[in-house]
Amino acid sequence: MERNLKNVACVGCGLIGQGWAALFAAAGYRVAIYDSSDNVLKHAVERVRSNLERLEEINRISIGTAVGALEFVRTTPDLADALNVADFVMESVPDNYPVKKAVFKELDTLAPAGAILASSSSGLLMSEIQTVVSRPERCVLAHPFLPVHLLPLVEVVGGNRTAPATVEATCNLMEKIGKIPVRLNKEVSGYIVNRLQAALLREAINLVATGVASAEDVDRAFCNGMGMRDPFIGPLLRAHLAGNGISKFLDQYKESYRLRWESMASWDTIPSRAKEALIRSVAEMPIVRNHSLDDIKTWRDRMLAQILKLERDYS
Ligand SMILES: NC(=O)c1ccc[n+]([C@@H]2O[C@H](COP(=O)([O-])OP(=O)(O)OC[C@H]3O[C@@H](n4cnc5c(N)ncnc54)[C@H](O)[C@@H]3O)[C@@H](O)[C@H]2O)c1
Repeated sequence: MERNLKNVACVGCGLIGQGWAALFAAAGYRVAIYDSSDNVLKHAVERVRSNLERLEEINRISIGTAVGALEFVRTTPDLADALNVADFVMESVPDNYPVKKAVFKELDTLAPAGAILASSSSGLLMSEIQTVVSRPERCVLAHPFLPVHLLPLVEVVGGNRTAPATVEATCNLMEKIGKIPVRLNKEVSGYIVNRLQAALLREAINLVATGVASAEDVDRAFCNGMGMRDPFIGPLLRAHLAGNGISKFLDQYKESYRLRWESMASWDTIPSRAKEALIRSVAEMPIVRNHSLDDIKTWRDRMLAQILKLERDYS
């Protein structure tokens, strides 16, 4: 039976929490925001408003609905008050076990017995976090991507004591707020995307560190090749298409991939020389030399919003 979730508590309202709050409010959920910092709480509604306006810009919600959605959002400096009637708790506090466990202990005590407790963690395992709670079956991981209100993916995975119904209900809720949930069958460090990203990053660093190309050129090669094509197909379908069938691809490119894999870096800690070379080369990138980090982030989010708008206009 599908659960009827109406009230959401966002616990932790930094970069990730404010994105979640906007998405839940935009989908008509009542959202209570709690953060341990008064200063964050003070600016939370303003940040949610700006995220809602961005959703309007990309036609995710109709023009003029951001103001109405904001009426569903309230902030409170009292965690018990935020959790009072919560059906779903979205935790987005800093990513380390002591902090997450302390917060989950409180959520476990204060949230209604039927509420789902979800963590945004980008690297921790729910099996470990849920060791401190009395109802581990209702705890789940829902890992979003920054900016949360714009990028559709959320990776959903339970710990070894999570009930399948919790994972199911979380995926359903994520779909209702416009996310694309990908459910992992089992926990693994970094989930799916951060593992793929880690593999790519190691080789990108290696190419710079061994003098094959500058940071600027590695990024240009990525953006104008894989990056341009990969919004629509993933690496596995790409291989299937490239070989006119995955099986043919694996046979046909066996030798060339062997040569690449065998010449690639395999370290698991960045060697100090590679680290120095990378830092030097990134500092020389024209965009890094000429613009502040905040300006680059604003430009990135604007570009992303335009791509998402284009995708929506044509789908
Ligand atoms: N930033 C990213 O790119 C990203 C992407 C995906 C997932 N995540 C995950 O989301 C979570 C939050 O990350 P973020 O980037 O929003 O961090 P952040 O530092 O921007 O926000 C964390 C917020 O938690 C608050 N906080 C700290 N301790 C608290 C407590 N005990 N109770 C309530 N609030 C508390 C802080 O005041 C802050 O506002 C982390 O688990 C992170 O791994 C981050």
